[in-house]
Amino acid sequence: MDEHNLEFAQAIGSNEIGAFADNLAESLDRQMKIAFEPEVRKTLRRFSSSEVAEMLRVSTSNLRNRHKDGSFPDVFTDNRGHRFYSAEEIDTLRGILGRTGKNAAAYQPGRREGDRLQVISMVNFKGGSSKTTATIHLAQRYALRGYRVLVLDLDPQASLTTFFGFRPELEFAEGGTIYDALRYENQVPLSAVIQKTYFHRLDMVPAGLMLSEYETETANALSNRIRPIFAERLSLALEEVEADYDLVLIDCPPQLGFITLTALAASTGLLVTVIPGMLDIASMSQFLKLASETVKAVEDAIGKRVSWDFVKFLITRYEPSDGPQTQMAGYLRSMLAGQVMTEPMLKSTAISDAGMTQQTIYEVDPSQLIRKTLDRALTSVNSVADELEQTIQMAWGRR
Ligand SMILES: Nc1ncnc2c1ncn2[C@@H]1O[C@H](COP(=O)(O)OP(=O)(O)OP(=O)(O)O)[C@@H](O)[C@H]1O
Ligand SMILES: [Mg+2]
Repeated sequence: MDEHNLEFAQAIGSNEIGAFADNLAESLDRQMKIAFEPEVRKTLRRFSSSEVAEMLRVSTSNLRNRHKDGSFPDVFTDNRGHRFYSAEEIDTLRGILGRTGKNAAAYQPGRREGDRLQVISMVNFKGGSSKTTATIHLAQRYALRGYRVLVLDLDPQASLTTFFGFRPELEFAEGGTIYDALRYENQVPLSAVIQKTYFHRLDMVPAGLMLSEYETETANALSNRIRPIFAERLSLALEEVEADYDLVLIDCPPQLGFITLTALAASTGLLVTVIPGMLDIASMSQFLKLASETVKAVEDAIGKRVSWDFVKFLITRYEPSDGPQTQMAGYLRSMLAGQVMTEPMLKSTAISDAGMTQQTIYEVDPSQLIRKTLDRALTSVNSVADELEQTIQMAWGRR
C-alpha cells in the first residue's frame, strides 16, 4: 500500500464510521418525527376540470355551464381562472348530477338493492407482476368514480400499506392489521382494523409481518380441526362491514399459501396479473394448476363449491414496441380466449417513478412528471379500470 492509500485508509477509520452512524441516527430520528407529525400525513391533490369531466363522464363545457348557472358550487380557482376540485367536491357534483342529470342513474355506479358485494383479488405467485400496483390504482380510480372501496393488504411485506403513508413496522408492530381479524385466538372484528384514509371513499386494512404467523397457525388449526377454517374466515369477517362498501380489492402475496387461499375463497372475482414473457406465463400456468388442485381440496373441506363471477387475466408492464412481448400477449389471448382483458396495463416510467415515493399516477403532482408520459399512463390505467368496471357492472346484471 503506498503512502497515499494508507492515508486514505486511515481517513475512514472507526471514528468516521462512528460519525456515519451518529449522522444516520440523527437523520432517521428527524424522519421518524416527521412521519408521525399529523400534518405531514398524505393528502390528496385537487383535480383539474378536464380530469373531473372524464371521471364524471360529462363534457368540460357542461361542467363550465353548470358552474355558470349556479347548479354547481364554487370550487378553488387559480389566478388563470382554472378550476380545481377536491375528491369530496367531485362527489358533491356527482350527487347533483345524480339528482338532476339527464341519465341520473348513470351517476350512481355503486351497488343497488340485491347486488352482492364484489370482492376482487389480485393473484399470481410471480413476484413483481404488478399485483400491488394494479390494486392501488384500481382502488383509487374506483373511489374517484364514486364507488365505496375497501382495500385489504394481505401481503406480509405490506407494500400496499406503505402506499397509504403508513409505516407498518412502526405503526402496526403491536397489532391493527388484517391478521387480527383472521387469527384463531383473540380475533377482532374487521371494523376494528379498518383505517380511514386521506383518499375520499377509500378505506384500507393494513398488513404487517405478523400476518405471516397466519400460515403456521392455519396449519395447526387444520390439524386440530378448529372452525371456522381458513377458507371461511375472510368471508365471515367481511359480513360485518359488507353494507358499507361496493367493492373490496385484495392485494395478495406472491405465493399460493393459506393467505392467498383465504383470499381466493372469499372472492367473487379474480384478476390474474401477468407480464407477457415466456417464463412469466409458465409460472402463471403452474399457479393456475396448483390453485385448481388446492381449491378442490378446500371445497371438500367446506362442503361447498368455490366459484367466481369472473376470472380475468390482466397483461401488465406491457411494451407494445417489444416484439417478443406482443407475440406472447397474442399467444395468451389465443389460449385464454375471452378471459384476457382487452386493455393491458402499459409499462410506464410515470408508474414506476410515482411508485418510488409511494404514490400512484392519480396522486402524483402532474408538474413532477413529463405530461405526455403521465397522460399515456393515465389513459392506460383508466382504460383497464373502465373495462373491469364493465365486468363488475355485468356481475350486478347491468349494461
Ligand atoms: N405498469 C408498470 N410500469 C412501470 N413499472 C411498473 C408497472 N407496474 C409495476 N411496476 C413496478 O414494478 C415493481 C413491482 O410491482 P408491484 O409491486 O406492483 O408487483 P407485485 O406483483 O405486487 O410484487 P410482489 O409479488 O413482490 O408483491 C414496482 O417497483 C412497480 O413500481
Ligand atoms: Mg405486491
